[in-house]
Amino acid sequence: MTTVPSINTALPGPKAKSIIDRDRTVVSPSYTRSYPLVIERGSGAMVEDVDGNVFLDCAAGIAVNATGHSHPDVVKAISEQAQKFLHMSGTDFYYEPQVRLAEDLAAAVPIDGGVRSFFGNSGTEAIEACIKLAKYAMKRDNIIAFLGGFHGRTLGSLALTASKAIQRRGFGPMMPGVYHAPYADCYRCPLGLDSKNCAAECLDYLEHQILVHLVSPDEVAAIVVEPIQGEGGYVVPPNQFIERLRELTTANGILLVADEVQSGMGRTGKMFAMEHTGVRPDMIAIAKGIASGLPLGVASARADVMTWPPGAHASTFGGNPVSCAAAVATLKLLKEQLIANTAAVGPHLKAGLESLKDKHPLIGDVRGRGLMVGVELVRDRKTKERAPEERDGVVNAAFRRGLLLLGAGKNAIRFSPPLVLTREQAETAVRIFDDALTDVEGDRGRA
Ligand SMILES: Cc1ncc(COP(=O)(O)O)c(C=O)c1O
Repeated sequence: MTTVPSINTALPGPKAKSIIDRDRTVVSPSYTRSYPLVIERGSGAMVEDVDGNVFLDCAAGIAVNATGHSHPDVVKAISEQAQKFLHMSGTDFYYEPQVRLAEDLAAAVPIDGGVRSFFGNSGTEAIEACIKLAKYAMKRDNIIAFLGGFHGRTLGSLALTASKAIQRRGFGPMMPGVYHAPYADCYRCPLGLDSKNCAAECLDYLEHQILVHLVSPDEVAAIVVEPIQGEGGYVVPPNQFIERLRELTTANGILLVADEVQSGMGRTGKMFAMEHTGVRPDMIAIAKGIASGLPLGVASARADVMTWPPGAHASTFGGNPVSCAAAVATLKLLKEQLIANTAAVGPHLKAGLESLKDKHPLIGDVRGRGLMVGVELVRDRKTKERAPEERDGVVNAAFRRGLLLLGAGKNAIRFSPPLVLTREQAETAVRIFDDALTDVEGDRGRA
């Protein structure tokens, strides 16, 4: 497959169109398809559709294909395991790939002391496990999460999710005992302060309002936080926000749970985004990139916290042996090559996107770490009026030019490519993004 995008048909092409027509009548309409991509195959950071069009992938199946599409080492690990056995349920029996992965994770996660891991199939299941374990271990009922946060869509995690109202609309009442505090979005400081002198004052509301008027700290089991908000708009809080959360949780005997479903597994140029802060959480939720695309979700916790007895929590498919084999191969690639690549190529991508600011007034903010980079689009840099339609337009224009992107939050665009992205591909992404912005600004000018 070529390493540069090439579009040779109208989009969608004829084969893609016929598959989309079939999908329309039989697949759940709840999915949010931003543009009509029908994939046939992928290799590295490139994707070919069913009509032979080739795209540069800066979406990676929502930040999942950490090692790129069908990395040969991962495919080898999958096929070797698939030939031995596909399933035996790690809930009732033992198999080495699950133990090996738990050992590798115990060595990799930034949690102090011994570490144990629970295996599910998805991000939301990782969060469900964290919620249940926190309640069980602490014998406390309440959980604190953050506005703008996304933690999944099953009914426990959905109660924590506070990203877009549509995600909760029609599904209430939510699980009780969940309180939301403001997140440190410094581009749009919830207190209107200047981010240069930030002392994470947004946490005052949690400390002096929520924990005083609404819930007693000794009844809070856990605070669940994304070290970088993903679905909420690739929002990077200052380190003092996470540091102060650790102080607050430690002082009140509350568990600190890092939701690294999106920010983990090398995406930010370190294995876990928490490592940029030096803060050690008590639990980490992991999914997405961990098995390069195979379904796997993990809740890793301090061993002295994960003490629930047999039967307290389990999952038939969780920790599937093929997914575990893919995860072991993924971790090895991340440690040996791809975290270093992410730490090198990420800033190059970010700098390229920042350089477009002079030319494109639509760009309000460029932020991120490693290959988790967000661009927030605004109609006016001074008022920061959000530009959601323009954002959708840019994502679509990029697709038509051969670059796969996804939106995040109301008006941001996320760049979350496979971690194999080269410098040249980062430059191609910036070039196409530049053209897509020009397309949309041209349309605005004509409107
Ligand atoms: C931070 C975070 N937590 C949890 C989830 C839920 O993961 P899943 O869709 O695998 O259930 C997501 C998904 O986007 C996420 O970004």
